[in-house]
Amino acid sequence: MTSKVQPALLRALAGETLPRPPVWFMRQAGRSLPEYRELRTKAADFIAFCHNPEMAAEATLQPMRRFPLDAAIVFADILLIPGALGQKVWFEAGEGPRLGELPPIEAMADQVEASTGRLSAIGETLQRVRAELEPERALIGFAGGPWTVATYMIEGRGSDRSGARTYAHQNPEKLDALLDVLVEATARYLVMQANSGAQALKIFESWAEQLPEDVFERIVVRPHAKIVEKVRAAGVTAPFIGFPRGAGALVDNYASGVPVEGVALDTQASAALGRRLQAEGKTIQGALDNLLLRAGGPALDARVDQLIEQWGGGPYIFNLGHGVLPDTPVEHIERTIRRVTGK
Ligand code: CP3
Repeated sequence: MTSKVQPALLRALAGETLPRPPVWFMRQAGRSLPEYRELRTKAADFIAFCHNPEMAAEATLQPMRRFPLDAAIVFADILLIPGALGQKVWFEAGEGPRLGELPPIEAMADQVEASTGRLSAIGETLQRVRAELEPERALIGFAGGPWTVATYMIEGRGSDRSGARTYAHQNPEKLDALLDVLVEATARYLVMQANSGAQALKIFESWAEQLPEDVFERIVVRPHAKIVEKVRAAGVTAPFIGFPRGAGALVDNYASGVPVEGVALDTQASAALGRRLQAEGKTIQGALDNLLLRAGGPALDARVDQLIEQWGGGPYIFNLGHGVLPDTPVEHIERTIRRVTGK
């Protein structure tokens, strides 16, 4: 009988405390790697790249070949959903995402079912990666948190989100309707990803900061809880990692209100917060400063050791507090992973 390999990442998400934490990095694929920058020149634009399973699978696997990482994250973007719902999305070189006018919410609601089919290339990417990845390395699927995706849809670009936060106060019913559309489209997209080989599912709520508690409950906690419930109702058992970046003290509201297995912590998370979440039964992930990873040196080594010391006594996944910065030296990434894994 062949024993089924349980990847370390999934054991950690099941609540196990491992001899050393599994490790992966947000944005481990992408511009910090020269082989990505080379591959990227072969696609007309970034969205086309994400919808090309051959290229996206290659980008997903590039960091896996280079480093002894415990998990791959599918190469895609949180802004593929607005595109699939009928809003125009493109990337301005050197600047970032741009979105066309926000379509009427009822029109997007009518597109929810069709949207998942328009994202089928990402399912194909996952299948390709899962077929190539060693069984002890996990494959993560993801989507953006509805609020974060809505901020881009409302403002049309990256910003300080004050426009979207004002919208949340001035048009609560409209925002709730938009979030409902995103919850439904996101849940279906994540079910498709799980059925295509994603073994864990992460929700990136990158702009969870600066929200009053009642608004945070309404536009972050409740929509996330609905997504998890819908995905579970579809029979998916893959564990969730929620990432309410910037939520500060409201991380506790998130952890008690959203039935995720893992909570990803940002750079500012205190040792005490992480331990408290572990004591409450959550697996935690994070929270190395991406600027420190870029800076390197003895301070980086010391912080890596400190994070493992403070959180490694409970279920813990080593990661950054936000994504790898494009100009991070590859040697720093390599050194850090080796320090965590001992490989
Ligand atoms: O390796 C991985 O983590 C998987 C791939 C991934 C990308 N985007 C690829 C990408 C993931 C998980 C994301 C998530 C994402 N996308 C988030 C949430 C995480 C976070 O960093 O806060 C957000 C807010 C986006 C939206 C987005 N995509 C922005 C604002 C930008 C432009 C800024 C930038 O970094 O260039 C992107 C583009 C993007 N997404 C790139 C990559 C590799 C760079 C595009 C390129 O290569 O030309």
